[in-house]
Amino acid sequence: MRGIDVLSIFATLLLGSTSASPILSRAETFENPVLWQDYPDLDVFRIGDVYYYSSSTFAFSPGAPVLKSYDLVNWTPVSHSVPTLNFGAQYDLTNPSDRAYVKGIWASTLRYRASSDTFIWLGCVGDGPSYVWTASGTNAASNNGEVLNWNWTPQYTLPRCYYDSGLFIDDDDTMYVAYGKNQIMLAQLSADGTTEVKNQQVYESPDNIYIEGSRMYKINGTYYIFVTKPADDEWVLKSSSPWGPYERRILVDSIAGPLSNAGNAHQGGVVDTKDGNWYYVAFLDSFPGGRIPVVAPLTWTDDGWPEVVRVNNEWGKTYPMPVHTNKTVPPPTGLDTFGGASLSHEWEWNHNPDNSKWALLEGSGGLQLRTATVTGDLFSARNTLTRRTHGPKSSATFKLDISNMTDGDRAGAVLFRDIAAYIGVHKEGNATNLVMVNNLNMNADWTTKSTGNVAATTPVTTSELWLRIEADITPAFGTSISRLGMFWYSMDGQIFEQLGPSFALTNTWQFFSGYRFGVFNFATKGLGGEVVVKSFELKNV
Ligand SMILES: *[C@@H]1O[C@H](CO)[C@@H](O)[C@H](O)[C@H]1NC(C)=O
Ligand SMILES: *[C@@H]1O[C@H](CO)[C@@H](O)[C@H](O)[C@H]1NC(C)=O
Ligand SMILES: *[C@@H]1O[C@H](CO)[C@@H](O)[C@H](O)[C@H]1NC(C)=O
Ligand SMILES: *[C@@H]1O[C@H](CO)[C@@H](O)[C@H](O)[C@H]1NC(C)=O
Repeated sequence: MRGIDVLSIFATLLLGSTSASPILSRAETFENPVLWQDYPDLDVFRIGDVYYYSSSTFAFSPGAPVLKSYDLVNWTPVSHSVPTLNFGAQYDLTNPSDRAYVKGIWASTLRYRASSDTFIWLGCVGDGPSYVWTASGTNAASNNGEVLNWNWTPQYTLPRCYYDSGLFIDDDDTMYVAYGKNQIMLAQLSADGTTEVKNQQVYESPDNIYIEGSRMYKINGTYYIFVTKPADDEWVLKSSSPWGPYERRILVDSIAGPLSNAGNAHQGGVVDTKDGNWYYVAFLDSFPGGRIPVVAPLTWTDDGWPEVVRVNNEWGKTYPMPVHTNKTVPPPTGLDTFGGASLSHEWEWNHNPDNSKWALLEGSGGLQLRTATVTGDLFSARNTLTRRTHGPKSSATFKLDISNMTDGDRAGAVLFRDIAAYIGVHKEGNATNLVMVNNLNMNADWTTKSTGNVAATTPVTTSELWLRIEADITPAFGTSISRLGMFWYSMDGQIFEQLGPSFALTNTWQFFSGYRFGVFNFATKGLGGEVVVKSFELKNV
């Protein structure tokens, strides 16, 4: 079955869909990655017509985005399971010597419990405890999977750190959490989920090979735990009982494709379509862009082992569309004029924001950012609002009104990661200078190494200006290839000029999150200044 002829699968799927006739105008195939953005550590499941996808966000807030799709290919964030990082003061970025970079939300889990119509998010923070947030499904199961409004509430903590947690709700409604590294553990929770009633090791990795990232399912009466050997393999553990014993097979072992310099597809989870086809959603280590999802069909052997459908023995660049549907979701690119009642779920702040210092202005007036921190260090400034870069190359254009900046203020557009650069405005007395600043660097322990150097400067002559960053996040993981960011400005929105040198992005994984675009406004002398972000546009370039 490994060498299964992908063309015969294509033919079967195409033949199967000809009865639904007028689909020929729509895409018959999709391309990997399905979403070229940083959405790592995914947990995926389906309710009715809707697929849901949860992801890690570390110290970005709100955290744990919930993405939605009708076809497993087009995804959009519709909610966040953790609206406020309620894990302690370090998540507020109020103390420059106690910040939460790379902490917070990692390898957490989200599932839907039909018996109580509840979405349950669970994640270990730091060394523990594990936090639980829930939201009503608003009758999602009887509404084709649609949720009318999301209302996340912090529930309780469980004392143990469920490392790389995978929530699983059995047919009989029993809740389990599969977790751990090397030793895969299973915790059974009480009926209401608030306490642990049993805990046992269910699998031990041979030769102490490092594995993690548990995702647990029951398929046709058999229990499966998918685990990853980071960056290389995905293993499948299979048993007739949740408590084991589990047999193991390797699902993929350093599978090549579909992108170069992006590691091997691994981790993630599996999900079925309404008509019973299965898919594996994994991610690639696509730094400098972060970890990005890829999808491949699964087939099953007669004795119940899944196998990834390969193309030329690799993870396919294209496969037939998993689902033909007329239902669509908005693309990740486009214009945002901040006209809604709240920020769209594409946006996340760096740490919890100071909500008294920002506002959406009436009548699409824009996003008001009042300075929230007096600091010389962007990495310690509150209220930097971020947006994921889009691959392989994208540009972000922020239109700013800077007329109310005050002496010492710094506002602009940043290409944000542990090695960062920005284009922005430095207000010094009555002088308003446009600057390109690079060499904003963090140390390996995420303290600030360097607050940046002004690499280029030019006077600003208008109160409105456009700041643009172009970022190339074509994967270069494990290579010394430099992907570049470029910084541009315009005083009229028409003619853009580059400012400062190109900036080399870092390809390392240790910060976990990939590069983001961000807009910031902080004070170096005193609070009181403000800028208004009139619009934002994300484009593929
Ligand atoms: C589950 O069992 C049904 C009936 O035997 C079979 O048609 C189907 O392929 C099985 N699915 C999986 C994922 O094994
Ligand atoms: C999509 O819409 C077209 C036109 O309204 C309709 O004929 C077709 O049946 C729909 N297809 C699906 C899969 O819903
Ligand atoms: C600047 O501040 C003045 C006075 O508070 C206010 O009326 C105006 O709307 C502000 N404009 C911008 C662009 O922030
Ligand atoms: C800014 O300009 C005003 C008006 O010319 C002047 O009164 C003020 O002293 C200047 N402020 C600084 C910090 O230079």
